[in-house]
Amino acid sequence: MKGKTKCHKGVSEEGQENHMRTTLTPDTNELREIALLPTQSALPRAARFLSDLVKDAGFVQGEILPLLQKSRNAQDWYVARQYDGEDDSYSLKIFVWPVGTGTKIHDHSSWGAYASASGTVLEERYDRLDDGSLMEHARLKKAWQLSWSPEDGASTVLPGDGGIHRVGNPGEDAAISVHLYGPRLEEVDGRDYDPSRDYVCARRED
Ligand SMILES: [Fe+2]
Repeated sequence: MKGKTKCHKGVSEEGQENHMRTTLTPDTNELREIALLPTQSALPRAARFLSDLVKDAGFVQGEILPLLQKSRNAQDWYVARQYDGEDDSYSLKIFVWPVGTGTKIHDHSSWGAYASASGTVLEERYDRLDDGSLMEHARLKKAWQLSWSPEDGASTVLPGDGGIHRVGNPGEDAAISVHLYGPRLEEVDGRDYDPSRDYVCARRED
């Protein structure tokens, strides 16, 4: 009989004890507008927003550099800042990636975009080969991998199967990335995958 494993730590739960919810300095009107758009129009706008944000000297000075200092003591990756729109219409999160850390393979129940604000993060992307009809079963195939530095712009993911990925920092310096997620389309936050045993389970944010 196949062993059953629960998703203990979700991608957006892990390490969140360090995050703070505060008022956002970047343009929240722009974020609200982006969050109202259909996915296909929202993604390029979100990507542009993040590409501009990580090049904004004030943002880097005020938000990113202080986090880099603090990241020296961290063992695992964590969400250092989270800014949520009203009714969870969007969520902007700043992730800190100490050297050698990374997520599980996962997807999101919303569209998403992210850009490196400091250092380089590696993204591995996967295609889903099965049709999703079997409970807790998913067959994945690695599709590509790309390194993202601040000058590379933003990567985007569609909700669910359109954005199965793993993000991490295999480099030699800490990295920081800024992520923007649109409105959630399902009750769950997303799914976590274990391709070593073709396993998938829902990830709840609580
Ligand atoms: Fe992700």
